Amino acid sequence: MDIEKVIVEEHEYVGNDYSVLKFKAPIVAGVASPGQFIHLLIPRLEGSILRRPFSIYKVEGEFIYILYKAVGRGTKVLMEVRVGDKLSVMGPLGNDFPVCNEDEFPVFIAGGFGVAPLSFLAKTLPVKGHLFVGGASNCDILCIDDFEAVDCKISIATVDGSVGEQGFVTKPFMTWYKEFGKKCKPVIYSCGPDAMLRAVGEFAVANDIKCYLSLDKHMGCGIGACLACVQKVYDAEGTIVQKRVCKDGPIFSAESIVWEEE
Ligand SMILES: Cc1cc2nc3c(=O)[nH]c(=O)nc-3n(C[C@H](O)[C@H](O)[C@H](O)COP(=O)(O)OP(=O)(O)OC[C@H]3O[C@@H](n4cnc5c(N)ncnc54)[C@H](O)[C@@H]3O)c2cc1C
Ligand code: FES
Repeated sequence: MDIEKVIVEEHEYVGNDYSVLKFKAPIVAGVASPGQFIHLLIPRLEGSILRRPFSIYKVEGEFIYILYKAVGRGTKVLMEVRVGDKLSVMGPLGNDFPVCNEDEFPVFIAGGFGVAPLSFLAKTLPVKGHLFVGGASNCDILCIDDFEAVDCKISIATVDGSVGEQGFVTKPFMTWYKEFGKKCKPVIYSCGPDAMLRAVGEFAVANDIKCYLSLDKHMGCGIGACLACVQKVYDAEGTIVQKRVCKDGPIFSAESIVWEEE
């Protein structure tokens, strides 16, 4: 892990409060793996010294890309960053997605910007997979070109039905699983909103499917020191312990996660 001063190379607004930010970060780019994240200090964010975590979306040579959505104060200020601005980037942080075997079939299940780390992963796996991607509407369906470029099959679901099947992304996934799930050895990789991760994780555990979830927790330090990001998990003996999403995650196996009572 390093802190790099980087210069913004491109900043493209892609609609519906989503943007893609590209910057030159040779140190991070040299060692980043799919699933890891960077911790970014947002410039000109008055009264805040806290960095914000973003998954690594793409690595191209010495360049890193992130795909982000403006949801609050920090990400709205980030939208104002211009080409040539300097940023402080800490990373790469966290663990990465375990690579599936060649006789396994990767299934990517994504919601909104959760598709970003899965796109990075899909490019590196030894086998092509199937992406199930969902969002509130067609504006939340992102990175389709990236998955097409690596010959992934793609199924889309939107809550308003504006593109793909109407409903949650778990719907086309369940339909697929009934037909094909038992004929291949699926390995699920999932990133997106908590409710989606929980539905995917609980289904995977109930059906004995290998499944890795990338958790999204509010963070402070990003390096394991402040305990702002703890998640309850079962350890190897089945005892419930606290793990830090920033340092021990963000990727956890579905069966290890202790979901909070609803
Ligand atoms: C490992 C990891 C990877 C992430 N990758 C991406 C990514 O690739 N693209 C992206 O757009 N976002 C990503 N996020 C979420 C991103 O970090 C938050 O959206 C961001 O920190 C919000 O900052 P803010 O100052 O704009 O929001 P704040 O002003 O701090 O909060 C605004 C609203 O967003 C909610 N919020 C704040 N932080 C989070 C969070 N971590 N998760 C969910 N809700 C939050 C708050 O509850 C509040 O409702 C990731 C988070 C983690 C932990
Ligand atoms: S954010 Fe500080 S321990 Fe994880």
